[in-house]
Parts: sequence; structure tokens; C-alpha cells
Amino acid sequence: MKRSTVKELLSATEKNKEVLLKGWVRTRRGNNQVAFIAVNDGTIIHNIQVVADLTTFPEELMKRVTTGSSISVTGTLVESMGKGQTVEIQASKLEVLGDSDPEVYPLQKKGHSFEFLREIAHLRFRTNTFGAIFRIRHALAYAIHKYYNDKGFYYLHTPIITASDAEGAGAMFRVTTLDLDNTPKNEAGEIDFTQDFFARPTNLTVSGQLEGELGALALSSIYTFGPTFRAENSNTPRHVAEFWMIEPEMAFCDIHDNMDLAEEFLKYLIKYTLDHCVDDLEFLNKMVDKGLLERLKFVLDHPFERKSYSEAVEILKQSGKLFEFPVEWGLDLQAEHERYLVEEHYKRPVILTDYPREIKAFYMKQNDDGLTVRAMDVLFPMIGEIIGGSQREEELVKLQNRMKEMNIPEDELWWYLETRKFGTVEHSGFGLGFERLIMFITGMSNIRDVIPFPRTPRSAEF
Ligand code: 4AD
Ligand code: MG
Repeated sequence: MKRSTVKELLSATEKNKEVLLKGWVRTRRGNNQVAFIAVNDGTIIHNIQVVADLTTFPEELMKRVTTGSSISVTGTLVESMGKGQTVEIQASKLEVLGDSDPEVYPLQKKGHSFEFLREIAHLRFRTNTFGAIFRIRHALAYAIHKYYNDKGFYYLHTPIITASDAEGAGAMFRVTTLDLDNTPKNEAGEIDFTQDFFARPTNLTVSGQLEGELGALALSSIYTFGPTFRAENSNTPRHVAEFWMIEPEMAFCDIHDNMDLAEEFLKYLIKYTLDHCVDDLEFLNKMVDKGLLERLKFVLDHPFERKSYSEAVEILKQSGKLFEFPVEWGLDLQAEHERYLVEEHYKRPVILTDYPREIKAFYMKQNDDGLTVRAMDVLFPMIGEIIGGSQREEELVKLQNRMKEMNIPEDELWWYLETRKFGTVEHSGFGLGFERLIMFITGMSNIRDVIPFPRTPRSAEF
């Protein structure tokens, strides 16, 4: 017989038929006549109840049906008399596939802390919370591809290993095959990268944007969706060293079109989850964050505020709030500032534009004031910055001058500059941090809990 999933069984319309179930035991209760076994197989948040008449199953076998063990059950799917479930399985055959010693299985009790569960990230998938999060993560990944495919964007695979530093952040992971105990040296006594695998220094990418621009300047609209890496030593609930980013890039598109896309895209993803992940969201709303569903619907129903960085700085200065970090025109905004603007002042998502050029990357389009660039950051409640993007500088000379000012060698980016030499056009794009999006949609407050295996400073277990 073909195995049925818990998801299929719980929505089955045909009752009183024989079924085969396989899954993991979540809990077991009962008396000396009958055992009620709650089984979950991860296909849905709910368990299905298996009823086993103890007179028909040997005691030795039933002893092995413990929390965490895996079982196979053949039986009849019947309507349930019990509270909280519509159907259950009356077992006629039961087999233990894998034992789980109750003395040592770490997921016995309910209500483990997220910190503890991080230490057993290999098993935390088996909890309700992490089952819900990773089903939602999957649904969002699918929805992202669907959104762009339906809009006629092409999915472009940008390289993971690169020789360029797209953000100029200088926080990159080196990729090398050199023997670190015995690195070859050149005449000046520096490491001789000509002997390395690529014959030059290379790193893990911090962003697919620069290569994405090359694609957009031929295919019109592209997006990337892949892992990116940042070696910043920031131990915050919003930073990981390995995260996934979605980066659309569009030719013939200015910053206003870019903002429109960002807002429509975020709302589409929230709506998609509300439509397709109801059970998981309701669970998270109940157990993790009581304001979750309300917040999601609120963001869906209200237009994002669009303001300039300069306006935001004025508001922060006049707020009378004591911030930990200073607020001054020219300084970057910190998470506490962003969250004040969103949660206390505007009380809705905010898109800030026209940041000082000194705090933004070289490729952003320069405004005529000589002070600001056409940057845009989307700020969200609970999260702060969820999207960073900009209109790009499409004028060759301006771009070259800015690179000179920032000491970015032209010969490293000659290929990028050529798109401005040959048929340059207005274009824009942005990057959405996938994990920050999932934090917002699940209500989880630590980024380490929305990626299966988080990579953070001093931590790369599993
Ligand atoms: O603002 P960022 O650095 O922008 C870029 O990388 C641009 N090249 C994107 C583009 O225009 N195509 O990063 C974009 C987003 C941030 O808004 C944030 O959501 C996320 O990526 N992000 C991180 N998420 C988790 N951990 C980190 N260390 C992150 N750094 C950035
Ligand atoms: Mg940013």
C-alpha cells in the first residue's frame, strides 16, 4: 500500500478505509487498554492520532513506541470521537522503524528555549515552531520565483566566487587553495596569489548585483536569488554571515519604479503566505508572537511612507528620544533609528531615499546636489532595514570619478564600466534579505531561527 501523508489524511473525505501512515511519535498517552499516539510527519503542523488497542499488540513492541521514535502504522481511517481532531487511525498493524531512547532524546518536554534548540539545530526541525518556519520559508522561496516569472523577469545565476567587492564593505571571506602553512611569496614579500587557484585573490560574493546589472542591460529585467556572504563581526539578532538575498535589476527603470516594485513585491509575499500558510501562521501567532497576523494584515493594507533621509534625520532629531547612537546628517541610521521611524513615528513601513553619498556604495546614481545619491532603503516594523537598493549611476564619467574618489581600481571593474560605454541606460534594483523577510513573516525575533543552519561569528556547527 502507498503511504499517505498526515496532510493528506487530515483532509481526506473518504473515511473507513485502510491507510498506511509513517511518521515520528510526538506524544503518547492512554491507559492499560488503549494507547493514543500522536504522529507527525512534517507535511503539516497538525498530528494525527493513532489508536492502538493494547490487547492486540505485544507489550514489548508498545514499549518501544516512545516520543521521537519512528513508526509505520496500517489501520482504518475513521471519524474521531475525541476532542481537537476530526479523524484518527484505528491501528491494525504497527511497526517501530527506528527506536528513540527516552532517556537521551533531547526533545522530550515542550517549551524548550530557542537558544537550546539552536544547539540541537539538527533536531529542531521536529518541533512545531521550526516545522512551521521552514514550511513558510519554502513557500516564500516558491512565491518569489512565481512573482518574478509571472512578471517576465529572468532568473540569473550570478557567481558565488568572485574577484570583485560589490559593496566595498571590505568584509569578505577569502577563497583560496594555497597552503596556509606555507604561502608562496612574491619579491615584495607579499602572498603570491598568481599561484592560487584562480591566479588572483578571490572571495565569496557579498551581492550578485554587479553581475545582475550586466544581465539587466541585455535581458531588461532579471533577478538573482542565492546565498551571499559577509564577514562582518556583528553579533546582532539581524545579521548572519551567510544569508540569502533576492536581487531584482531592471533596465529602463528609475528609483520611483524601483520603490513601486519593492512595495508590490513585499505585499505579494505577505499575501501569498496569508493565503497558503494559514495553519502555520496561526500557530506562530498563538505561540510566538500574538501580534503577528494583525501586523501582516496591517502592512498589506497600508501604503508605505516614502520620505527622504534628510526628512528622517529631522524627525529623529526632533523626537526628543535618547538614542544610543547619535543622529546627525551624514551619519548612517542605526536599527534603533529605523525602528523609531517605523514603529513610533509613521507607524507603517517606510522607504527612505536620497542618502548622503559618503555612506553609500560607489554605483549609486548621484543627485544634482552633489551630496546625496538615489539610494532607497525599505524599513519594516520589528526588523529595520529589510531592503537596500538604488538607481544606478549610468553615466560613465560620473561613475569613473566616483570610483577614483573611493580608490576603486578601474581595471578590477573594467567589464562593469563597459556597460556604460556601450548603450548605457537608466536602471535600478534592490536586494531583499530573505532571512529578514522570514523574520517579519513568522514573528521570530532572532535571525538564527529562520535559517536552517546559521553561520555567525565563532559558530559554524552542523
Ligand atoms: O543593503 P545591502 O548591503 O545591499 C546590497 O547588497 C545591494 N547590492 C543590493 C542591491 O541593490 N541589489 O543588503 C541588502 C539586504 C539588506 O537590506 C538586508 O535585508 C540584507 O540584505 N542583509 C543581511 N541579512 C542578514 N545578515 C546580514 N549580515 C545582512 N546584510 C544585509
Ligand atoms: Mg543596506
